[in-house]
Amino acid sequence: MSETMRAVVVNEFGGPEVLRLGEVPMPKVVNSDTLVRVHAAGLNPIDVKTRAGKGASGAIERMPWVPGGEFAGVVEKASYELAPFQPGDEVYGMLLTPRYQGAHGDYVSVPFMSLAHKPKSLTMLEAGGVPLAALTAWAAVVEAARVHSGQRMLVHAGAGGVGHFAVQLAAFYGADVVTTASGRNHDWLTDLGASQVIDYTSERFEEAIDEPVDVVIDLIGNVQDNTGSRSLEVLRDGGLVVNVPTGSWPTMHEETEAAGRELRASTLKLSPEGRILTTIAQLFDQGDLQTHLDASFPLSQARAAHEQLEQGHTRGKIVFDLTAE
Ligand SMILES: NC(=O)c1ccc[n+]([C@@H]2O[C@H](COP(=O)([O-])OP(=O)(O)OC[C@H]3O[C@@H](n4cnc5c(N)ncnc54)[C@H](OP(=O)(O)O)[C@@H]3O)[C@@H](O)[C@H]2O)c1
Repeated sequence: MSETMRAVVVNEFGGPEVLRLGEVPMPKVVNSDTLVRVHAAGLNPIDVKTRAGKGASGAIERMPWVPGGEFAGVVEKASYELAPFQPGDEVYGMLLTPRYQGAHGDYVSVPFMSLAHKPKSLTMLEAGGVPLAALTAWAAVVEAARVHSGQRMLVHAGAGGVGHFAVQLAAFYGADVVTTASGRNHDWLTDLGASQVIDYTSERFEEAIDEPVDVVIDLIGNVQDNTGSRSLEVLRDGGLVVNVPTGSWPTMHEETEAAGRELRASTLKLSPEGRILTTIAQLFDQGDLQTHLDASFPLSQARAAHEQLEQGHTRGKIVFDLTAE
């Protein structure tokens, strides 16, 4: 096996033009790591924010940095003979980059606890865009919000990578789901299980919602139209707001406290847990979860992929196809 591999590399922070297709050393396989040949790898806002010098950029100790927090592929080398994922297995998983070299390259070395068998019903390309986004939706909807039947939940940005999984998970576990999206996504989100879809481009969601909600999953924060702060208006007394984009609503705790209605507020961080990806794979394979591939790019078109994601209107996921030239 060669000592180097292809990867999208960032040598300096900046706009999409800093992205290069380069050669980097093969990732090292130590301890419980499994070496996976990447077939497809999703692009997420954290990749774009970090490339721009925000996001997780403060944790990058040396350049070049290889972005990419999720992937699907085939195991090349197991960590030991009886390890749960063996050469030839089709897997998908999540990587904590920049602690690990990212997935926008030919191989990743990843702890096997962050892997699961790929859902059989998904192509490699579809599966490559699932792990980080679906684990975030799971952490918000299932773990933080304790989703249950009869609960009313508002999901902001239901059409995005995290949002389309959040809407489906909330509906699957029995919640009454309200979501926000531009008009072109309404029929699709209704099909995914939302009972009400509000066009944030033409309506104020706090005016369109006539019955208070128990939970708001806020995937926007105050970076657009004070979406976070305005969300407090639609929460019932004692309700919960989960603000997902890090740093997007710095005054959340003060504002919820000042509302004087025993509101609860939490930010969110996700863990790359393979056991949850196994449950998520089951949901796909039994037909209770679906994903939407908005666009795919070869690694050589990383710049175009970042530019598209940065426009902020991805429906579902953008994924790199590592089998394409
Ligand atoms: N804390 C964590 O661990 C963590 C993990 C994952 C993600 N995140 C963050 O969570 C956020 C969402 O991630 P993502 O992957 O879902 O992003 P994404 O896929 O890029 O989201 C795009 C979607 O946002 C919708 N949108 C844009 N502006 C909106 C608005 N004002 N109101 C409602 N919808 C709006 C768009 O819908 P239309 O096209 O219909 O406008 C589009 O479908 C990002 O900021 C990301 O960094 C945090």
